Amino acid sequence: MANPSFCLTVLALSLSLVLAAATTTLQDFCVADPTEKVLVNGLVCKDPKLVEENDFFFSGLDIAGNTTNPVGSKVTPVFATQLPGLNTLGISIARIDYAPWGINPPHTHPRATEVLTVLDGTLEVGFVTSNPENRHFRKVLQKGDVFVFPTGLIHYQRNVGYGNAVAIAALSSQNPGVITIANAVFGSTPDIDSDVLAKAFLLDKTIVNYLQSKF
Ligand SMILES: *[C@@H]1O[C@H](CO)[C@@H](O)[C@H](O)[C@H]1NC(C)=O
Repeated sequence: MANPSFCLTVLALSLSLVLAAATTTLQDFCVADPTEKVLVNGLVCKDPKLVEENDFFFSGLDIAGNTTNPVGSKVTPVFATQLPGLNTLGISIARIDYAPWGINPPHTHPRATEVLTVLDGTLEVGFVTSNPENRHFRKVLQKGDVFVFPTGLIHYQRNVGYGNAVAIAALSSQNPGVITIANAVFGSTPDIDSDVLAKAFLLDKTIVNYLQSKF
């Protein structure tokens, strides 16, 4: 039986190696090659000799998203798909526009923490912690205010001001992923059996079927 302090040292060393592997890039860049069909926990790198300035460039975040939709908000993402130079760098950005009383519905980013900065308007924001507490943190933000949604937690925003609102979200992944709770649960393909959802949400099956028809 190895001595415990040796085991701890080995554990600490391997943990730091794992963390180093997760946070350190091994090249200056890895511009995504969208034509490559092979995936290596992300997108394959383009030949560096073919990389050019525009691979690190995106234009148009000054343009407001169209909020004429049932939720009254629009996310304009600038992830590795839109800006290939972000590939492997663990960072991305998005613009979010909100009509008056528009919401960005409850959702999570499975791979990213989000820092939200309000550029214009007044937003109510909130997130809920994991089980068993499910504590709801909620705050009203004004222009210039910054709020963080910790990685993986369900969060939302609502425009509670008189005019349109605009925010910029910074995310700690080039591909943060989005799971919109209602759409994922009631709008999956194929459906989750209504019996499962009726029990989970304490609803009558006819209401579950109605909700499923809406998504
Ligand atoms: C915004 O979206 C709505 C609904 O899809 C559409 O009718 C409208 O033409 C769009 N407006 C603009 C300026 O693109």
